[in-house]
Amino acid sequence: MSQPEYVIDQMISAKSIAARIEALAREIRTAFAGTEKLVVVGLLRGSFVFIADLVRELDLPVEVDFLEASSYGEAMESSREVRILKDLRGQIAGRDVLLVEDIVDTGFTLDHVVKLLQSRNPKRLETIALLDKPTRREVDVKATWTGFEIPDEFVVGYGIDYGQRDRNLPYIGKVRFTEPAAG
Ligand code: PRP
Repeated sequence: MSQPEYVIDQMISAKSIAARIEALAREIRTAFAGTEKLVVVGLLRGSFVFIADLVRELDLPVEVDFLEASSYGEAMESSREVRILKDLRGQIAGRDVLLVEDIVDTGFTLDHVVKLLQSRNPKRLETIALLDKPTRREVDVKATWTGFEIPDEFVVGYGIDYGQRDRNLPYIGKVRFTEPAAG
């Protein structure tokens, strides 16, 4: 699928992200102090960079697992149907769990995955999202911890893609289309 031309303006620097993650990790460490082992679940694909940096700041015994969900595919609009493409490898019943999400937009993904994980009876389930776009919310859901609240801009980088591009940018950028709309 061809994409319109665009440029990326930096919105949140790599340094700001790192500083925020350090602060969030301190809060998470306090909240889960004394845990036998925290199961940190990354929601693929968008969270792969965030979870890698977050777990390295967490001074707790952790186990890392992944779940892959998709609701956008190649589209810019949510399909509002969350598909689970890859399930967890491990069991979470009776365990402390932290679900790691890159961005909460309409809220369909977080809502769906939280309900799925709760149905497996964890001892405690908390959630963290690096970015939150509260003005876009269609489902009443909020992560326990949020890195940055952002306006309704199309963002990429630090794990987040536009048509499977730009996930490898070390910062969060705002997409600005340079091609005039067709017609
Ligand atoms: C994106 C993002 C979140 C979700 C947020 O995932 O990673 O998981 O959308 O949107 P929502 O709040 O409107 O549900 P996507 O389906 O694009 O998959 P990806 O993580 O593999 O890029």
